[in-house]
Amino acid sequence: MSKPRIGIVISTTREGRFGERVARWVTDLAAGRTDITTEIVDLRDYPLPFFESVASPRFVPIDTPEAKKWSSKLAELDGYVFVTAEYNHSISGVLKNALDFVFAEPARKPAAFVAYGAVGEARAVEHLRNIVVELSMVPLNRAVHVNMEPFLGLIRDGKDFADYPYLAPTVETMLEELAWYAETLKAGRDAAELKAA
Ligand SMILES: Cc1cc2nc3c(=O)[nH]c(=O)nc-3n(C[C@H](O)[C@H](O)[C@H](O)COP(=O)(O)O)c2cc1C
Repeated sequence: MSKPRIGIVISTTREGRFGERVARWVTDLAAGRTDITTEIVDLRDYPLPFFESVASPRFVPIDTPEAKKWSSKLAELDGYVFVTAEYNHSISGVLKNALDFVFAEPARKPAAFVAYGAVGEARAVEHLRNIVVELSMVPLNRAVHVNMEPFLGLIRDGKDFADYPYLAPTVETMLEELAWYAETLKAGRDAAELKAA
């Protein structure tokens, strides 16, 4: 079985966003693993209009080129790390909109969460957990929350992630859990595909 491919999703697109710094940090920490491969999936590379289709993609797949580019990327990956901010106590509008464009592609794949902001953005992660369940993803227990002290140090005081050594082990624990689910669910999907063939 090929190694599970994990997408590290940068879920904000605004100018000056902090999200990409977090995504790079997680990618660097994952680089040493031999059981998964990772790649950054930047929502800036998948610009989508507001969702206005006649029906949910559960019933009517959306075949515009931009929607297909996004859904194909999710389809080719075996799991996701959503690097998420909190916008007004939830996820960014751009991430919610992007998730509204897909249905089958992320199903039966694990979703992990790395959140950053004043309160560790636990509210956004809880919302996102509910959303991914509706898309038949498997949300993981072990999330990473970069909260007030490191967040301010990183964005305001010129600090680096290495200045907060207690954070990296939380990413490593999350990746460990993610790798297990990604491999297990991939085996399950592959077996189901063989059975159906
Ligand atoms: C529209 C908007 C709403 C926000 N709402 C919250 C919030 O509800 N809770 C919070 O802790 N921070 C909130 N923030 C602060 C963000 O956590 C902070 O700006 C963070 O850097 C946003 O991620 P980004 O830089 O990747 O866009 C908000 C920021 C924006 C732009």
